Amino acid sequence: MAAIAEFQVRKDKLDETRRVDNEKPALGDGQILAKVDRFAVTANNVTYGVVGERIGYWKFFPVADEGWGVIPVWGFADVEASNHPDVAVGERLYGYWPMASHLVMRPGKVSKTRLVDDAPHRRELPPVYNSYARVSAEAGYDGDMDNDRMVLMPLYATSFCLYDFLKDNDWFGAGRVIIGSASSKTAIGTAYAIKSDDAPPTLVGLTSARNRNAVERLGLYDEVVVYDDIEKLDGNVATVIIDMSGDGGVLGRLHKLLGDNMKYTSNVGVTHFEANDMGPDFIRERSAMFFAPGHMQKRAKDWGPGEFEKRAHSFWRDAALKSRSWLTIQEARGPDAVEHAWRDVLAGKTPADAAWAVGF
Ligand SMILES: NC(=O)c1ccc[n+]([C@@H]2O[C@H](COP(=O)([O-])OP(=O)(O)OC[C@H]3O[C@@H](n4cnc5c(N)ncnc54)[C@H](OP(=O)(O)O)[C@@H]3O)[C@@H](O)[C@H]2O)c1
Repeated sequence: MAAIAEFQVRKDKLDETRRVDNEKPALGDGQILAKVDRFAVTANNVTYGVVGERIGYWKFFPVADEGWGVIPVWGFADVEASNHPDVAVGERLYGYWPMASHLVMRPGKVSKTRLVDDAPHRRELPPVYNSYARVSAEAGYDGDMDNDRMVLMPLYATSFCLYDFLKDNDWFGAGRVIIGSASSKTAIGTAYAIKSDDAPPTLVGLTSARNRNAVERLGLYDEVVVYDDIEKLDGNVATVIIDMSGDGGVLGRLHKLLGDNMKYTSNVGVTHFEANDMGPDFIRERSAMFFAPGHMQKRAKDWGPGEFEKRAHSFWRDAALKSRSWLTIQEARGPDAVEHAWRDVLAGKTPADAAWAVGF
């Protein structure tokens, strides 16, 4: 491909999209050109767009035209050209890419197994997103797990953080955890982590009627409840809520039912991004946003460099292998496939037990 193809979305209207082709620039000293191979598209990427202004996700891959943006995705790329003495053409990298065919990078810190994109506009952004794995140099790198890794690693690393956070806080004194949007991969990973604890609390999965059977089939939740039946839950049990839905109606009803028994709510995601207004019953003082990169940075300080990655990697790999029993990853290629995957996920049409791995 001669040009760089980019899939752009209108920042304030995520279903308005366009493809833009840019000339490949001449590489400056120390720069490399990475050819993006494949990347995952899940609700997580839609959330990057929904909270793009608030959290700064549009800043990773900026576009000259202010109203438009490029959604970040997790996946693999191969180095197509290099003006960097320590990075060779043909190297494979795992990390955070634009929905585009290529990315020009400026590797800063380069170690045997990682490199950091030190492009000036990325320096102020959370370091977790700027760090790339040099997978060709990884001991035990298994290309057969590329699809599992691009879809599940960022989500299950968050699941591991959530479990670690709850455990570190003694489950906030609760004997029950309710997970909202229980069919999402981040929720399922959290359920894997909680269920592998020595003394897990009771785990309730809250989901939509259409996903109920899929969630029940996982056999991970002690109870599966659909959104319409929230009021049938026992309100007298001390409870922590891990919420991926961001659904103001759902959270308000849960908080009203539980009252003082709502010990803590972790607002992790916004899969129901069109229902985000929190009503009067939402208990703000015991609710807080969860930002996995922030937790990772805290653990890097607590545990020393590399330890979090080691533990999260081991958790991710085990859980990803288990997930092969229920998850179908659909691979597709070309600009139309990229657009189709985006629209399918944005409209909530991708089945809960499926995910996309696409590329230009
Ligand atoms: N805070 C953090 O650091 C962090 C890190 C990672 C992920 N997250 C967040 O966790 C959430 C889950 O991400 P994921 O990639 O794991 O999701 P996913 O697997 O793609 O989630 C799919 C599920 O989300 C719900 N959903 C998705 N689109 C919908 C729509 N348009 N309308 C209604 N429901 C819809 C449905 O679940 P139900 O029917 O069960 O509701 C669906 O089965 C995202 O919001 C993501 O950003 C946050």
